[in-house]
Amino acid sequence: MLKQHLQELQQHATPFYAYNLDLLRQTLNSARTEASKYKYHVHYALKANANAPVLAEMLHAGFGADCVSGNEVKRAIESGFKPENVVFAGVGKSDAEINYALDQDIFCFNCESKHELEILNELAEAKGKTARIALRINPNVNANTHKYITTGLEENKFGINAWELESVLDLLKTLPNIELIGIHFHIGSQITDLTVFKNLCTRVNEFQEWFVSRNITLKHINVGGGLGVDYYNPDANLVPDFEAYFALFNQFLEVRPGQEVHFELGRSLVAQCGTLISKVLYIKKGITTNFAILDAGMTELIRPALYQSYHKIENLTSDKAEERYDVVGPICESSDCFGKAVMLPETNRGDLVAIRTAGAYGEVMASGYNLREKAEAIYL
Ligand code: LLP
Repeated sequence: MLKQHLQELQQHATPFYAYNLDLLRQTLNSARTEASKYKYHVHYALKANANAPVLAEMLHAGFGADCVSGNEVKRAIESGFKPENVVFAGVGKSDAEINYALDQDIFCFNCESKHELEILNELAEAKGKTARIALRINPNVNANTHKYITTGLEENKFGINAWELESVLDLLKTLPNIELIGIHFHIGSQITDLTVFKNLCTRVNEFQEWFVSRNITLKHINVGGGLGVDYYNPDANLVPDFEAYFALFNQFLEVRPGQEVHFELGRSLVAQCGTLISKVLYIKKGITTNFAILDAGMTELIRPALYQSYHKIENLTSDKAEERYDVVGPICESSDCFGKAVMLPETNRGDLVAIRTAGAYGEVMASGYNLREKAEAIYL
């Protein structure tokens, strides 16, 4: 598919991100169709990729916005998301961020601690407003994913633990400028084993019971995001299996009359449509390994260095016999490596290399380390 666009790709200075907007549309279409079967609401997690053309497609698909910083809330609203479709999560919202979101009258703050509730109440009171909130509950469900991206276990910094809930309700009684409208969960990211979501549903049902037994009506249940993508076979699985994902929630999540169910998907919506394109600078012969040294590095895509993540690497311009390479970047860190012992067609200086499935948590996590320039983005 990328080879189709080779001529265009060759015209741009490397490294750069290339986004396939047709694939993005196809992905969003599938997510929307499957979610709407059950009247589920999808909020796009901007943290995965906040580029303007991507956000425009999310809006067009009718999704809301899930934000984790004041600037994300701002970006969402300035991009056209209605405040009533914006949620603001995060363990460390600053006063300025909260004030901005209060001024915008966003739909909901997902709150993660008692202390945050107290401060939010104070800030809302000062503005004569009431903040709608969902309690982010830590369901203690193991997401079986990389330890850096699991968030639903009790020892994580995220969410309120079950044993704290009773005291949270007591506290809420003393906070008149806060309205509890829902509960929120997010157990981790890149979850490929759907039974993990089934376990989440079981826990959410238990928590719902707990609230109902205290005569508390929850208008909305937010089950977070986390659906994984296939980094190993991007071409075979270009669009994640949203059908199975939403059907599972429909089967196992108990929804009460009048209640809305919200999802916060990031990666599964945008990962496959983005590719990091780079050029080979040098080939260096090692004792047992050949290094293919690229002009892209961990400054453009940090996932392999940070989480030992796999991204499929392809040489777009060579069709010679395959050899084994360690594919590395130019940054002064040993962890600046995209893949070890990767089989690629014989690779030479100037070849164009694609690092696939980089649309989510790629460009947004770029850094200026070594005073690197920000890579440009192009849209195919
Ligand atoms: N909701 C909340 C509260 C979250 O913390 C996240 C992601 C999402 C939704 C979206 O999750 P998704 O559908 O994308 O899995 N940088 C890491 C991933 C960090 C995810 C953080 N939270 C990576 O590159 O793998």
